[in-house]
This record gives sequence, structure tokens and C-alpha cells, in this order.
Amino acid sequence: MDSIMSTIVNRRSIRSYTSEKISKNDITKILTAASWAPSGNNLQPWKFSVVMNNEELIKRLSSLTIYQSWLQTSPCLIAVFLDTKVVDNKVEGIYLKHVQAIGAAIQNMLLAAHELGLGTCWIGEILKNEDLVKEMLGASKELELMAVISVGYPNKNNIRSKRRVISENIISWF
Ligand SMILES: Cc1cc2nc3c(=O)[nH]c(=O)nc-3n(C[C@H](O)[C@H](O)[C@H](O)COP(=O)(O)O)c2cc1C
Repeated sequence: MDSIMSTIVNRRSIRSYTSEKISKNDITKILTAASWAPSGNNLQPWKFSVVMNNEELIKRLSSLTIYQSWLQTSPCLIAVFLDTKVVDNKVEGIYLKHVQAIGAAIQNMLLAAHELGLGTCWIGEILKNEDLVKEMLGASKELELMAVISVGYPNKNNIRSKRRVISENIISWF
């Protein structure tokens, strides 16, 4: 097993997948990793909709983004929702913490997938079509779409992003 630091540093967004199918067991592990994320008051405000072994639905969802050409080749898409039923209220700041918990859950998913040899990409651009995504997935009205995550075995030709040097990000260190 990779050390956590090596998993964090080596994970990259993957936008090109092989046609190899993913096991249900691996998706379950990825969702388990999500569920162990921290959340305000341990409310665990996340819900997931998994689309795999359904090329037609993957194509329809992909068509809601500008990334259709590569996204539709993903063997699996996972829609991540915030369950507004479990969220105290929408007061600014309080609502934000639940959204942050979803971010933590998604990051756990990406890291767990990487450790399983799977590639992922976090798709936020699809949020502009939240209503259509919810309709396609039959998601109930209290669920708010946070992201769609593509999952698949990485092709070799993926671009690897870089980072600024850490000193540029530190504004103070007392
Ligand atoms: C909130 C969020 C939304 C994102 N939305 C998209 C997206 O719509 N399409 C895409 O290709 N990548 C998307 N990404 C992935 C970023 O482009 C990527 O994480 C960034 O370029 C750094 O590259 P890396 O993940 O390979 O380290 C998103 C990432 C985050 C955190």
C-alpha cells in the first residue's frame, strides 16, 4: 500500500480511460472511503448515484458537459449529492461546512481510486445542468448535485499537472 503522502502526490486527474470494466467491489471501496470523510456534526451529508455497465446513460450524462468526447468513454460515473434534508439550514457559513464535507468525501474517493489503480476526474462543469442530471438519475428534489466523478483504468497518454512551489502559497508563518 502506498503511503498516504505518495498517494496524494501521485494522484492526477485522468481524462483518458481504457475499456477495462471496473468491479462493483472497487466502487464499493471508493464509496466506503468517501463515507469515512469528516463532516460537520458527523452528519455525513453525502449521497451517491453510480452509473456503470450502462453506456447509454453514461453518454447522455456526458453530453451535458463540454467534456463529452472523453467523458463518454468512462466506464463509470458517480454523481455526488449533498442531502439538504440532513443539513441544518442554508444560513451562509453553516451551509458551507456541509459543502466542504462533500469536498473531503470526494477527495477520499479520488485517493482511494488511485490506490486501487483507477483514475478519476472531478467534473464540476456539469453543475450548470444540475436539473437534467437529477432527472436522468431520478434523484429526489432535496438532493443537490455537487459533482460527477468519472472512474476508469487510466490510459498511458494522460497529462500530468504541476503545482506552484509551496512557498508561494504561504502568506504567513508566525
Ligand atoms: C471543484 C472541482 C471542479 C473540477 N471540474 C472539472 C471539470 O469540470 N472538468 C475537468 O476536466 N476537470 C475538473 N476538475 C479537475 C481539475 O481541473 C484538476 O484537479 C486540476 O487541473 C489539477 O489537476 P490534477 O487533479 O491532475 O492534480 C475539477 C476539480 C475540482 C476540485
